[in-house]
Amino acid sequence: MSALPASVDEVSAGLREVGYLPDASTALVSYLATKLGKPVLVEGPAGVGKTELAKALAKYLGRELVRLQCYEGLDEAKSLYEWNYRKQLLRIQAEGRGTGWEDVQEDIFSSDFLLQRPLMTAIASLDPVVLLIDEIDKTDQEFEAMLLELLSDFQISIPELGRIEATTHPVVVLTSNNSRELTEALKRRCLYLWLDYPSMDHELAIVRLHSPELSETVARKLVDVINQVRALDLKKPPSIAESIDWARALLLLGADDIDQQVFAETMSVIVKHRTDIDIVAERVGVKLGRPADAPIGSAPA
Ligand SMILES: Nc1ncnc2c1ncn2[C@@H]1O[C@H](COP(=O)(O)OP(=O)(O)OP(=O)(O)O)[C@@H](O)[C@H]1O
Ligand SMILES: [Mg+2]
Repeated sequence: MSALPASVDEVSAGLREVGYLPDASTALVSYLATKLGKPVLVEGPAGVGKTELAKALAKYLGRELVRLQCYEGLDEAKSLYEWNYRKQLLRIQAEGRGTGWEDVQEDIFSSDFLLQRPLMTAIASLDPVVLLIDEIDKTDQEFEAMLLELLSDFQISIPELGRIEATTHPVVVLTSNNSRELTEALKRRCLYLWLDYPSMDHELAIVRLHSPELSETVARKLVDVINQVRALDLKKPPSIAESIDWARALLLLGADDIDQQVFAETMSVIVKHRTDIDIVAERVGVKLGRPADAPIGSAPA
């Protein structure tokens, strides 16, 4: 599908079709983003489907996904464009002594010698794309300022080449884990979506979508236990990603219930800090039933 969606319901159904179950506000904001052409800033804890939303939107809209993974120290050369120095040098050497600098210069600062990085790819693309700027909070404020300009004008000025303007408008998704506060200026230009841990019904649907073979009883118990674990004061509460992994692990092990023993054996799939493991074992593990055939008085493994 390449036309823009006509309603929120259409976006919701479209995302489901490509394997992403949006809640009401996710569907609404996604719809508005495609219609208003505004970037979406998605914030929330790790593993709640921020990155996946951009991927799903690209799939649903039938667009290429252009991804910029942010990190500390990311600069324009790695995000926007860079001259291909090596190629330029070879070109100059190949020219020999006969040619004047004027001629060579015109040649080596042409688009043939330009290395396009994701932001430029998204702007220069002839077909509209989905641009994912992942983990924007990892960059510094200078980068954010550069991005602001880009997101308001959708154009890049290259001194040697001139201006490159977007002919098509990308859908832009920025994600952040909140490791630093983003500037008000950036927030003002974006639609905002806060993705949190899902409701139990929603999470059950996501788990069942990813592991349809897991029995409904085990899936329900899994979601219930995950929610009990999340309610504890942990360093790193389990996310949707952990629920999905746990479901897969339980399926592989052929577990038909989550009892004390199964929990003790597989807990490391959902809890990944030494101190958290102790808390979870004590507070959640012991509340689960004993294995069906365990003699009374036997300790959990
Ligand atoms: N609504 C959803 N429908 C289907 N799958 C989902 C949904 N939300 C999350 N998932 C699944 O959860 C996993 C984690 O999602 P994702 O990688 O997008 O998290 P994230 O929020 O980007 O995390 P991080 O901050 O660590 O990058 C993925 O496997 C994704 O498929
Ligand atoms: Mg992510």
